[in-house]
Amino acid sequence: MCGIVGYVGGNNAKDYIIDGLKKLEYRGYDSAGIALQSENGIVVRKKEGKIANLEALIENEKLYGTTGIGHTRWATHGAPSDINAHPHMSQDESIAIVHNGIVENYMDLKKMLNEEYGIVFKTETDSEVIAQLISVLNKGDLEKAVYDAVAMMRGAYAFGVIAKDEPNKIIAYRKDAPLIAGLGKGCNFIASDIPALLKYLDEIYLIENDEMVICTPERVIIKDKDGRELKRKVLHVNWSLEDAEKDGYEHFMLKEIYEQPKAIKETLNRRIDENDNITLDGITLTKEQLEDFNKVYIVACGTAYHAGLVGKYVIEKMARIPVEVDIASEFRYRDPFVDDKTLFIAISQSGETLDTLAALREAKSKGARILSIVNVVGSSVARESDDVFYTWAGPEIAVASTKAYTTQLVCMYLIALYMGRLRETISEEYYRSILAELKAAPAKVEKILSRASDIESLAKMLYNRSNVFFIGRGLDSAVAYEGSLKLKEISYINSFAIAAGELKHGTIALMEPETIVISLATQDALFEKMVSNIVEVKARMAHVVSIAKEGNTKIEETSTETVYIPQCADEVSPLLSVVPLQLFSYYVAREKGEDIDKPRNLAKSVTVE
Ligand code: F6R
Repeated sequence: MCGIVGYVGGNNAKDYIIDGLKKLEYRGYDSAGIALQSENGIVVRKKEGKIANLEALIENEKLYGTTGIGHTRWATHGAPSDINAHPHMSQDESIAIVHNGIVENYMDLKKMLNEEYGIVFKTETDSEVIAQLISVLNKGDLEKAVYDAVAMMRGAYAFGVIAKDEPNKIIAYRKDAPLIAGLGKGCNFIASDIPALLKYLDEIYLIENDEMVICTPERVIIKDKDGRELKRKVLHVNWSLEDAEKDGYEHFMLKEIYEQPKAIKETLNRRIDENDNITLDGITLTKEQLEDFNKVYIVACGTAYHAGLVGKYVIEKMARIPVEVDIASEFRYRDPFVDDKTLFIAISQSGETLDTLAALREAKSKGARILSIVNVVGSSVARESDDVFYTWAGPEIAVASTKAYTTQLVCMYLIALYMGRLRETISEEYYRSILAELKAAPAKVEKILSRASDIESLAKMLYNRSNVFFIGRGLDSAVAYEGSLKLKEISYINSFAIAAGELKHGTIALMEPETIVISLATQDALFEKMVSNIVEVKARMAHVVSIAKEGNTKIEETSTETVYIPQCADEVSPLLSVVPLQLFSYYVAREKGEDIDKPRNLAKSVTVE
């Protein structure tokens, strides 16, 4: 989604902004731009495509200004183009803005601005109305003009503003879209995400909904919607710059795949004490409350939703409580059965996904207790939840989620085990055996990674096929969905996941010679059934790549190729079996020469509905 960076200080804002925008590239974008307060008024430069195009545009210009705002755009209203790129300038060139989000009533505002003030709009965007609105409302007090504009706007947004007549100042406002302020030395910043600023500072303020932030070189002031100054705790960011950089890997995605053993260990170790008791830090639910729930709802999007599918299986199995898993964008519009006996679990890497946030609010309004599993500390989902269980995966930069998924699984297992023990639905022996399996998982993932070259060879052989099916039963079917999503999002190969037993009810019609079927067969309890499903597709001449546990060599008789994962309990196999699928997607996309970390049409943090 759109990225915002603003700088106000003593140096040339251009350098800080371009650098910050590059750090936000991972969010996905289609154009970029910058606005500087220069001696001759506000100067705006913007360009469709990569930031490199913008850099090329301004390369031979001596752009200088100590205050400025920049933007990477992910098109919603109006095609990606130079003209639709941000920043947007008001007609009288007194105001420039950058915006992330959507102004829902922009049509009405446009009409009013045109009819009452004669404003002729240059772009097809909703965002331009913000610049035009602030300029017509500005009677010499920018702060007041921003408040007045916000009072007329509906939607979700974070925006930054500079004004010709108020140099050395950036004003930004947040409503339902991420915004932070960074505290530098002799300079201050605004941004939509921490990585944009990591190079320059380690102290930030998190800006909440309906808050204004006013940055000058000396100060950052936060005000509520009524103009009252607020005190905010400084947040020290403990991410290192290396965490947010590639560290010698060709792509962030590969780096993040390889970081999984560490991330799993980190998420796990923080929750298990020396006596193997699970401590749910960040969760204040009492034993009585946990026992009192009669239903769990897990709601998320994309990869996080796939982690929820595993969550349903393990919570139902271990805690014997009914669990529904839903896609966030569906949940909120179908009047779900939620009340104060419902535990609502939201899963989100970014913590800013608007669909998930909206579903969370819906559940909250119906009295549910909200527990979130989130990676980005202090994000909106985390802040609006009653309890937060963080995945300690570190920054995930690649658009395709990998280490966030495996750490979300770890959280699901910990919650299921904890609830199961509390509700006495699992034996102590079972509890300890699964915990031991989880502790052994990082080393097993290492082992799979040490054989990455086998998967690379497989990818080199199969990368030019056009249809891939992922099949599995039980927990394997949940992983099949994730494997399929990974492949399609970065390699653009049409892939489809289905529960293996369901194939024969229609989808098997699509099997033809050389169709690729990736079959997950890691569930001992379902192994024989799975072999039968593999035989069914093999009989239609499909090229079958099976993922199985070491020792289950029988699978080779029915598969074209087999990839082994270390032996493990059926319950925890998703933590392992997803890794070859992530590697396969990565190597296929690399073989095809795709832009792996920034796949087309996708954004890392989806802050629109
Ligand atoms: C896929 C992917 C997306 C996200 C989804 C939810 O690799 O990254 O499907 O999982 O957009 O995002 P979060 O977890 O940030 O809520």
